[in-house]
Amino acid sequence: MSEAEPKHEPSTEVALNSLTDFSDLGNILVILPTYNERENLPLITARIRKAIPEIHVLVADDNSPDGTGKIADDLVAADDHIHVMHRLGKEGLGAAYLAGFAWGLENGYDVLVEMDADGSHQPEELPRLLDALRNADLVLGSRWVPGGSVVNWPASRKFISKGGSWYSRTALGMPLRDATGGYRAFRASTLRALDLDGVGSAGYVFQVDLAYRVMQSGMRVREVPIEFVEREIGESKMSGNIVYEAFWKVTVWGARERFRKAGRRRIRTMKANRDQGW
Ligand code: GDD
Ligand code: MN
Repeated sequence: MSEAEPKHEPSTEVALNSLTDFSDLGNILVILPTYNERENLPLITARIRKAIPEIHVLVADDNSPDGTGKIADDLVAADDHIHVMHRLGKEGLGAAYLAGFAWGLENGYDVLVEMDADGSHQPEELPRLLDALRNADLVLGSRWVPGGSVVNWPASRKFISKGGSWYSRTALGMPLRDATGGYRAFRASTLRALDLDGVGSAGYVFQVDLAYRVMQSGMRVREVPIEFVEREIGESKMSGNIVYEAFWKVTVWGARERFRKAGRRRIRTMKANRDQGW
């Protein structure tokens, strides 16, 4: 080796550590909601455990008819970092996450991560989300910021996703490029600050609902680019009902917000008038 070649670049070392060691963030839990993911579940848990070995995983299974719950039990028996919550039946992604959050908060986790179980959200990208959480209260993995992408989605699905985010931005005034995405990292303190009991969203609009609540409470939200890879095994649970729920809920929230703002404006005007002695 020549003398001139630097053996160590301290700055690089620090940067690398910050992407491999997350002990400063505390205990991290990845919540995987599952409905008929029997083939995907062992693949995704292995990838998560490999990407960040100290991480814990909670499977929130809605009594999948294909026996995903049994597969989860086998994984739990083989690995003390894996946990499972058996739910009674299919109640939607939102309900599964709320139950998972409650479990994670009760069990003392400091960071709670949402991730699809079908491989669309790559565990190998999780270090970048966690690194961003060091300066945020909520980090969104985003398909629609520069550097973000989607692999193997038909144009129709891209349109729904981008359209949903556009509608959320317009109706709610929420400056996010990917408001419906489901690859996210929350600080426990962020979830504790929200009224989770008041969240009634069942389907994928749950994601918009939570992002909106975090932004409204003035906390820091960051979007980091991700590559979303459409699943190779199993089927999406996206349906017309899920899109419909998202559309009407965002419309109602947006109308309510405009109504409130108009009310606040009227009150300000009345006060100003009163102050002037009218
Ligand atoms: N427990 C439970 N209950 N899990 C569910 C349910 C449910 O009712 N519905 C879906 N899931 C699980 C799936 O098994 C999978 O692990 C994850 O939630 C995502 O479901 P998919 O059906 O694969 O979602 P997608 O790929 O169509 O949708 C993606 O894009 C949406 C819109 O941007 C996801 O990233 C969603 O999170 C996102 O909102
Ligand atoms: Mn999927």
